[in-house]
Amino acid sequence: MDIEARVKELRSELDRHNHAYYVENNPLISDREFDALMRELEELEKAHPELDDPLSPTHRVGSDLAHGGFEQVTHQRPMLSLGNTYSVEEVDAWAARCNDALGNEGGLRSVPIVGEMKFDGTSISITYEHGRMVRAVTRGDGEKGDDVTANVRTIKSIPLVLADGDWPETFEIRGEIVLPWKAFERLNAERAFNEEPLFANPRNAASGTLKLQSSAEVARRGLDAYFYYLLADELPADNHYDNMMKAREWGFKVSTAMTLMNTIDEVDAFIKYWDEERRLLPVATDGLVFKVNNLRQQLNLGFTSKSPRWAIAYKFPAERALTPLKFVSFEVGRTGVVTPVANLEPVLLSGTVVKRASLHNEDIIRQLDIHEGDSLYVEKGGEIIPKITGVDLKARRPDAPAVSFVKFCPDCGTELKRAEGEAAWMCPNKYGCRPQLLGRLEHFVGRHMMDINGLGEENVALLFDAGRVKDIADFYDLKPSDIEGLDRMGRRSAEKIVDGIAASRNVPFDRVLYALSIPYVGETVAKRIVRAMGSIDAIMNAPREQLEAIDGVGGAIAESIADYFSYEPNREIVERLRRAGVRLESDVEESAPHSDLLAGKTIVISGVFNHFSREEYKDMIEKNGGKNSGSISKKTSFVLAGDNMGPSKLEKAKSLGIPLLSEDEFLEMIDKK
Ligand code: IVH
Repeated sequence: MDIEARVKELRSELDRHNHAYYVENNPLISDREFDALMRELEELEKAHPELDDPLSPTHRVGSDLAHGGFEQVTHQRPMLSLGNTYSVEEVDAWAARCNDALGNEGGLRSVPIVGEMKFDGTSISITYEHGRMVRAVTRGDGEKGDDVTANVRTIKSIPLVLADGDWPETFEIRGEIVLPWKAFERLNAERAFNEEPLFANPRNAASGTLKLQSSAEVARRGLDAYFYYLLADELPADNHYDNMMKAREWGFKVSTAMTLMNTIDEVDAFIKYWDEERRLLPVATDGLVFKVNNLRQQLNLGFTSKSPRWAIAYKFPAERALTPLKFVSFEVGRTGVVTPVANLEPVLLSGTVVKRASLHNEDIIRQLDIHEGDSLYVEKGGEIIPKITGVDLKARRPDAPAVSFVKFCPDCGTELKRAEGEAAWMCPNKYGCRPQLLGRLEHFVGRHMMDINGLGEENVALLFDAGRVKDIADFYDLKPSDIEGLDRMGRRSAEKIVDGIAASRNVPFDRVLYALSIPYVGETVAKRIVRAMGSIDAIMNAPREQLEAIDGVGGAIAESIADYFSYEPNREIVERLRRAGVRLESDVEESAPHSDLLAGKTIVISGVFNHFSREEYKDMIEKNGGKNSGSISKKTSFVLAGDNMGPSKLEKAKSLGIPLLSEDEFLEMIDKK
């Protein structure tokens, strides 16, 4: 056989096996045999570069070359959204409306409906020409999206070259890119290990992954895709269901949950079945989708400006479980705020075991009216953090007392205080209460602060409890011999910690100021103060009015700063940090704005980003003379909008007519592209 023919044969064999493995879940050969075929193809391609093909299965591993942003592509047909419903009744009413509009007296039998899963990922439109994938584009704003072809090519369940079949010469297929639960959990575990921010849910993880610069990293994360919509000038069948069955034949993953139904009772039973059964699926779903099957009927029903009238989404209620409250614990944080936490009988909810849930503050305990021994409703919506939403009153013992908030600090016994107008109870023993002292030490060494290598929560507690470190300045007096010999600490770890501490002397002053744990002085405020004042001496000795005059620094912050430095031991700590060589003034370089491209602009950041972190964007805004603000108002100049911007923010921006800028547009604006 000639080489070109063998290459072709290997490619179609490998495509066939990828399909069997990733789409059918039914491998036909062993991994070893698969690897052998792959190696043969790789070697032939290497020896014959003229035979290379970007759609060869050898390219599924992706590449590390950043492609420098994504090209924007206009959708041939806009990508619309779906109307939502939340109950069986609303779905029934939608079906009845379709019936009426189509002039059917006889009920659903004459308007067959297809029921499907609503996959909770990020939508994709893929175009095929002559049986080959040519382009994959994200939904974007519905009109135009990002060309993410290089990344999509790495998703092994998506066919690159179709086997022979009756596919149209040109067609578009739409579906949902998802990150299966298992891959999601693995990814988050890895990120936790690396102290990177976790993804709140598989949807964010999928959309974030799809927009990565490195397709090799995309390939590694294990995305998958389900398809639910076929578009072409000439489709194989006159109805949605048969078209999807065709797509399945051509190699696309079409969910086996897809069901053709003729009566409203079947629709209701479908909802009931999947409300429960979806928990067993390997991927996240947030509801079901119902579609009028017949394409002519679809055409007659048409579209509103936002969504098709021939389809509707049914959203699952948030998952809820009922579980007994064991006890409420009260936990003191770094700032002295006491947070009540419900400790629960462990219960399985959306795939994870829930044992604890924050009750936030005293008012929430009152509102929920929680009594000792109550059974509580726990919910987990799209997010991963569980929430207590109510109490099962029927199960309450008649004599059960209401849960009361503690009066004294559970750690140091000091009487708690609650400032007027504040929801939180505080332990005022700032300089003598263990969790506060320890919390400040942990904060000091953290990644956004002094970023001290080798020191995390555990080691800081170890040093604190051994009496080696009592305040933040003590870190700089540590010698390896002070650390070595403590629980599981060898010479090497001890030296690593001391080196890490030494390196932190180069951390810029605004981060040092943030690291001090002055109440209300967060990352952004610290930057502003440093830019305005330049040095710790200027800040310590500034009259209150001068601090208050800094943009974004109000009376409460100024008072808190004055308060901090009025305490003599804090001034001593500063002097000891100074002697240790920690930076207590800013470089002119650092503080000077790089440009005034954003002067006078107030910018709100919202959503999930792909090119830079939120912190980095904040920094860019400030370095270019702009102001970052947390909430949208009439004063907002524009929103720097990432993926999955919150619905309420989106609504607000729309109603005030505030423009949304994408990451790319923003970077272009400040000349970073
Ligand atoms: S059909 C014109 N079917 O839900 C109809 N969408 O809320 C287009 N989605 O943007 C969508 N599963 O990302 C359809 N089985 C399914 C779906 C589905 C998930 C997503 C899709 C769409 C969004 C609309």
